[in-house]
Amino acid sequence: MASKEAYSPLPPWQRTDYCGTLRANDAGRDVALLGWVQTRRDHGGLIFIDLRDREGIVQLVLNPEISAGAHEAGSQVRSEYYIAARGKVVLRSEGTVNAELPTGQVEVVVNALEIVNTSAPPPFPIDGDTATAEEIRLKYRYLDLRRPEMQRNLRARHQAIKAIRDYLDDNGFVEIETPILWKSTPEGARDYLVPSRVNPGKFYALPQSPQLLKQLLMVAGFDRYYQIARCFRDEDLRANRQPEFSQIDLEMTCPRPDDVMSIAEGMVAAAFRRVLGVEINPPFIRMPYAEAMERFGIDKPDMRFGLELKNLTSAFEGTSFKVFADVLARGQSIYGINLPGQHQLSRRELDEITETLRSRYAMGLAWVKVTDSGWQGPIAKYLGDGERERAAGVASLKPGDTLMMVAGDAAAVRPVLGEIRLQLGARFNLDSTGERKFLWVVDFPLFEYSEEDKRLVSVNHPFTAPNPDDLAVLDKNPLDARALAYDMVLNGQELGGGSIRIHSRELQLKVLELLGFSREEATDRFGFLVDALTYGAPPHGGCAFGVDRLCMMLCGTDSLRDVLAFPKTGKAVDPMSGAPSEVDPRQLKELAIKVTA
Ligand code: AMO
Repeated sequence: MASKEAYSPLPPWQRTDYCGTLRANDAGRDVALLGWVQTRRDHGGLIFIDLRDREGIVQLVLNPEISAGAHEAGSQVRSEYYIAARGKVVLRSEGTVNAELPTGQVEVVVNALEIVNTSAPPPFPIDGDTATAEEIRLKYRYLDLRRPEMQRNLRARHQAIKAIRDYLDDNGFVEIETPILWKSTPEGARDYLVPSRVNPGKFYALPQSPQLLKQLLMVAGFDRYYQIARCFRDEDLRANRQPEFSQIDLEMTCPRPDDVMSIAEGMVAAAFRRVLGVEINPPFIRMPYAEAMERFGIDKPDMRFGLELKNLTSAFEGTSFKVFADVLARGQSIYGINLPGQHQLSRRELDEITETLRSRYAMGLAWVKVTDSGWQGPIAKYLGDGERERAAGVASLKPGDTLMMVAGDAAAVRPVLGEIRLQLGARFNLDSTGERKFLWVVDFPLFEYSEEDKRLVSVNHPFTAPNPDDLAVLDKNPLDARALAYDMVLNGQELGGGSIRIHSRELQLKVLELLGFSREEATDRFGFLVDALTYGAPPHGGCAFGVDRLCMMLCGTDSLRDVLAFPKTGKAVDPMSGAPSEVDPRQLKELAIKVTA
């Protein structure tokens, strides 16, 4: 029990102020505080306690001459005890002002103190130190969340969402909730399934996004909809992927791509303004997907640094270096990155990159160092003057530079070099400049070919409209058709994306057919959508932004877990509750489910 007194579910008094808000102009006021003990220091007669609540820390002073009782109670407190204190705010004497604390000009001279609840020794200190393993932090997440950083992050998240709601409301968007227990929507991940007890053998799918429902809301006439939507995707997790996450999902009737992009820019700008007080100055540049792949090898380029890919194919035309000659004979390509002289990789580092390419992608790395006396490196001797000169021109080589080249099918080579480019950016700290580089990647292809499934798959999702200029290509060469789709990218992270949708029944059925759905399968899975399109469905389009990813950027962290109250680990586990867990066999029986694992 909390104190020697009888247990009471109510605190001994109500707070007048949050600890972290007291300032010099509060001097002379009598205050009542509630909070956790950060530290206690006994200095002979005086005891000092740093008391913490959500707004910060203030120093309490316990002087036996002012209150023997409070001093006695104070001598018993330990870290993370929850206590109530009453006293007078006083200015600290000059030498004892703590410039590091916002409350550092004052302290509270306590005349009454009660222990409201004791605390077991916390498994890790509640301060800025994050040396403790994350697994332990997540197990005791309610303690980890007491850390000022986590308090700040979650409140920034609240601010961001509030700013976005205000902005969308100002722009005529109506917030509408859609069901969680629903039907599978293909966003490219596996579904989380929920068995239906009353319909044995049948399952709901948790939504991967509210995609189809928001389209139906446009058919239903709401014109502009949004929602902070919880989405569920069973996919391999990374620092920027959680199995459940939130989207700011929006849809509008009759927009052009620019209309959606400008609403989204305004929305993101509103969040940056509210949370960080900065202007991010849209409109952002628009870069076609084809250009992003050609220059950066990735559809979400980090524009904070150069190191762009250079197409060296024609520079090596007629080469006698066999590896390159074979690649050229197959009609394939050679791409390179010029690592400028101020950034030097050691021979060992170059060998490591070569080895990774070999083992992970079965590709080779050809590199040369440009010196005043010519090219050096394992392959330099095979390269003639003409090709050296042409390559130097294309890649702007100067003495001191390192040219790293990969040869093969462009579709395979560019992403690999794109990966190397990011590694080099990190290796030379080019990606920690504190800049914010926003852009839109546009003109995505509608389809790509999946080697795994041996069929076309949607790059975005099956409801994305083809570019009207490419409709004729759909039949002949669907892989060449561009989509009316767009992604917003910030510093190499995809923040959000969307598209104009198909609102014609026939075109929707045709796209589903190209994706390998028979008419029957298409009507079975998406019949409700296809039907809805027959009833005067207006043109529509929209987008969705990852709330968690946006907050990650706003808080300057590189893990989604830092902006979620109760996240899951990389294995989709919650170490605190132990979810997912086995269930009572009776529950399984009711659901007509047999576990075979
Ligand atoms: P998409 O699948 O691109 O589009 O998702 C939109 C945004 O959601 C975020 N996101 C995630 N965040 C955390 N963890 C995940 N596992 C995760 N997956 C996605 C990203 C991403 O940009 N229905 C379409 C949108 C539309 O067309 O309107 C959709 O869901 O920030």
